[in-house]
Amino acid sequence: MQQWDQLWIDVNIATMDPQRTNSYGAIENGAIAVKDGKIAWVGERINLPCFDALSTPIYKGHDHWITPGLIDAHTHLVFAGNRANEFEQRLNGASYEDIARQGGGIISTVKACRHADEAELFELGRQRLNALAREGVTTVEIKSGYGLNLDTELKLLRVARELGKHHHIDVQTTFLGAHAIPPEFNTILDGANQYVEHVVNDMLPAIIDAELADAVDVFCENIAFDLKQTEQVLIAAKLAGLNIKLHAEQLSNLGGSKMAAKLGAKSVDHIEYIDEAGVKALSENDTCAVLLPGAFYFLRETQTPPIDLLRKHNVPMVVASDFNPGSSPICSTLLMLNLACTLFRLTPEEALKGMTFNAAKALGIEHSVGSIEIGKQADFCLWGIKTPAELAYGYGVNPCQQVVKSGQIIAM
Ligand code: NIG
Ligand code: FE
Repeated sequence: MQQWDQLWIDVNIATMDPQRTNSYGAIENGAIAVKDGKIAWVGERINLPCFDALSTPIYKGHDHWITPGLIDAHTHLVFAGNRANEFEQRLNGASYEDIARQGGGIISTVKACRHADEAELFELGRQRLNALAREGVTTVEIKSGYGLNLDTELKLLRVARELGKHHHIDVQTTFLGAHAIPPEFNTILDGANQYVEHVVNDMLPAIIDAELADAVDVFCENIAFDLKQTEQVLIAAKLAGLNIKLHAEQLSNLGGSKMAAKLGAKSVDHIEYIDEAGVKALSENDTCAVLLPGAFYFLRETQTPPIDLLRKHNVPMVVASDFNPGSSPICSTLLMLNLACTLFRLTPEEALKGMTFNAAKALGIEHSVGSIEIGKQADFCLWGIKTPAELAYGYGVNPCQQVVKSGQIIAM
């Protein structure tokens, strides 16, 4: 007889397990059993093995749907201040690039973060994680990149790690020291190269020493770092054994995606301007394409990522919030599912896969989360919906009824 800690019945399950080839990997009239925080059994209720019914708490889902806990695989959610003033400037005619070139943009958030103390950043981060948790998120990636000096980058990453320890949401951290050229280097000769040397030789080793980063990212763009500088940072990170990823092809095509994929990047992110050679490189190297419809929407971009090419070459597509104060001040994963469908024309199933299984893959944690499979962490959500497509279809009335993290029901 099976001894389980909890059992869910009267549910339909969008397992998102790629081994189940039907739509959403769905199991109708299913059941999920949990033991020691892991999924111990999943299948049709009719096949439920004999279990100790007297000692097992049983939760009923009223024929609603369970999905894996959502994973937001690209955020910058630890930051101070906001950029509502720049939003206003843009509405008065300035472009995102204009503002960045005038020392606003990322640099204005850098100033706010350098002044903020850890307790303040932690509290801001906690509130944002709560907002994501209410929408079913159980894992979040958080980047640094608003410090651009060692002390502040360490501070941001420490806050991200602390959030992971004190919040039920799991946090994966990414060092994005090469996000912009800091003001101190902007005024010196060859400042961008000098700063990249500093990132590689001083910041990265200190961050590795303090075990504060799971991955390293770079902003490869005309207004940030060129291909050679990007490659230098990614190679150093790779040699240190960290996962690598890239902000690439957001505003122009520099070929960053191709280069990063060849280095074994887990993901390239944004990629509105990627070309077919870039997409092929993703496919050949099993690199995920992280689509960020929030930034596309908020910056009113017009060039959409080449979804048909990504499909043609079987590149795993991920959908994430890119939550940040400049290009995507939108702390909502459910809205991202909707925008991925309405703006990028993903199907609701592709969008959900992009926030579950493929999101886990982009973070290199697909062995433990991202789908409902025996042995994986019991991270899942119960939604008051009749079809999984409802998650991407509407927005505004949150259908999340229960979030389960490592088998524990989270009070919200
Ligand atoms: O992902 N592209 C670079 N970084 C962020 C924007 C950061 C900002 O504007 O503060 C992004 O869009
Ligand atoms: Fe980003």
